[in-house]
Amino acid sequence: MAKIILTGDRPTGRLHVGHYVGSLKRRVELQNSGAFDKIFIMIADAQALTDNADNPEKIRQNIIEVALDYLACGLDPEKTTIFIQSQVPELTELSFYYMNLVTVSRLQRNPTVKNEIQMRNFETSIPVGFFTYPISQAADITAFRATTVPVGEDQLPMIEQAREIVRKFNQVYGETLVEPEAVIPENVTCQRLPGTDGKAKMSKSLGNCIYLADTAEELKQKVMSMYTDPNHIRVSDPGCVEGNTVFTYLDAFCKDEHFKKYLSEYENLDALKEHYQKGGLGDVKIKRFLNAVLEEELAPIRERRLAWGKRIPEIYELLRKGSMEAQATAAQTLADVRRAMRINYFEDAALIKEQTERYQG
Ligand code: TRP
Repeated sequence: MAKIILTGDRPTGRLHVGHYVGSLKRRVELQNSGAFDKIFIMIADAQALTDNADNPEKIRQNIIEVALDYLACGLDPEKTTIFIQSQVPELTELSFYYMNLVTVSRLQRNPTVKNEIQMRNFETSIPVGFFTYPISQAADITAFRATTVPVGEDQLPMIEQAREIVRKFNQVYGETLVEPEAVIPENVTCQRLPGTDGKAKMSKSLGNCIYLADTAEELKQKVMSMYTDPNHIRVSDPGCVEGNTVFTYLDAFCKDEHFKKYLSEYENLDALKEHYQKGGLGDVKIKRFLNAVLEEELAPIRERRLAWGKRIPEIYELLRKGSMEAQATAAQTLADVRRAMRINYFEDAALIKEQTERYQG
């Protein structure tokens, strides 16, 4: 069976380092591994509209931001098809058929949907489109016969729901769809990177994100004002590394080589943590080190983003071509789905014959 990747992001803002360690970095590695027959990366504008119906302009503006972030990270349009969800209308038709295979109570139990409903204060008035987006996400994945879905850990319930839909579809209508598997980071810290303020979630409204588009100055300023251990007041005080955002980011980003380059008094992160816990190591020093580590990782991304920023019309053109290719692929799956459901009436010579005989006989 062909190995195929499908994944994507909602274009509601620029992508940040949480997206990067949570999934983007892995996608680029998988792309460059050469182990996949086809890679589709989708800008999920239709899904973004499910909770932004009154603000389509926000989505419209952010499509290019997400595309720039993708290209900046090293997704290569020669190897990967990048496309826009709404330009593939087959996805909505698939969703409509899959809706019949899912119950309301099953959707209500989806932990990610539950959590998002709470965060958006939707409890009393959930838009139907938002409530059913896990079904449309199953359509996104299956339309491309994806075997592999690299995503952030919060998306696991979506993939599980998609797998259930596939099994149900195949059981009712015969073997047609491919059951996907999620790929999440092995490093648990990368699965859920906190905001710079130590809050569990990075969000634009909290102003606690480091964006891939941030300048070196913005990055430095954000790192130097990161939340650490509030009880670590004097350098000589023993400090706590758990819940200390600087150490959490180091857990996500730093490798032993970084010590040789930027902080050679320590052999590795364990040695740095030990000193911090004992006392005698100041926050400014660990923040400067983190800044160097992040700068090493993010500077090439920033540069590529600036370079692509000079080629905007080309990016729209590659999105257009990608969307056309994605549409053609999804159309093939939709044809299989209609055939499996036997709603392909006009291709069905047996049906016409059967009904003719019934009426003549
Ligand atoms: N739900 C994803 C997000 O919040 C975006 C998305 C839409 C997606 N369809 C998908 C991810 C299919 C993986 C596979 O960013």
